[in-house]
Amino acid sequence: MRESRPVSRRGLFLTFEGIEGSGKTTQLRRLARTLRRLGLPLLVTRQPGGTAVGRRLRRLLLAPGAPIDPRTELLLMFADRRQHLTETIEPALAAGVHVLCDRYTDASRAYQGAGRRLGVATVDLLHDTFCRRAPDRTYLFDCPVPTALARIGRRKEGPDRIESERAAFHRRVRRAYLDGAAAEPERILVVDAARPEREVAEEVLADARRLLALS
Ligand code: TMP
Repeated sequence: MRESRPVSRRGLFLTFEGIEGSGKTTQLRRLARTLRRLGLPLLVTRQPGGTAVGRRLRRLLLAPGAPIDPRTELLLMFADRRQHLTETIEPALAAGVHVLCDRYTDASRAYQGAGRRLGVATVDLLHDTFCRRAPDRTYLFDCPVPTALARIGRRKEGPDRIESERAAFHRRVRRAYLDGAAAEPERILVVDAARPEREVAEEVLADARRLLALS
């Protein structure tokens, strides 16, 4: 992913990634709570679903049972992302607000590029054409697929359309995330998410403090 260099006073763009059940959303909320207590201006948001249009797209994308062609799925993810960037993320960053976003283009690379086997190049072409903005930091919450699937199985609500994919799909997603992290170690921090929640949170907070120049 190209583009992006923090310029002074612009907010930082932090994204949270991982396979289903990796604990990324819990970690995002924990970090947001801590940063808010420190008085930082924050926008907490997610993809898909960070705008009114995006919430409709999210319902379409995740409804169990409705088949969606893989390329249609990819385009809908980018429709959500484009709207989210222009309506919400870019204005926030320009106003000096830090953005904590649950998933971004790395998810399309992993899920559509590898999970659906569309290839990372196709995803990157859409990103470079319609989005361009790269995160300043991406936290990749990594854990073995069986651990993650067991966590999903304990949730009250049933699995959505993508969560209910076979284990082999989730293994491809995990591998693609790790390959992406190996290719961009300066942006993507791999966090061992099989550890207790508090330990994971401490590692993320320590990194965020450094980035935000809080320590
Ligand atoms: P969530 O579980 O983080 O709420 O994400 C919703 C689902 O959407 C999850 O199964 C991952 C999937 N997804 C993609 O397949 N591609 C994408 O680009 C994004 C942002 C999410």
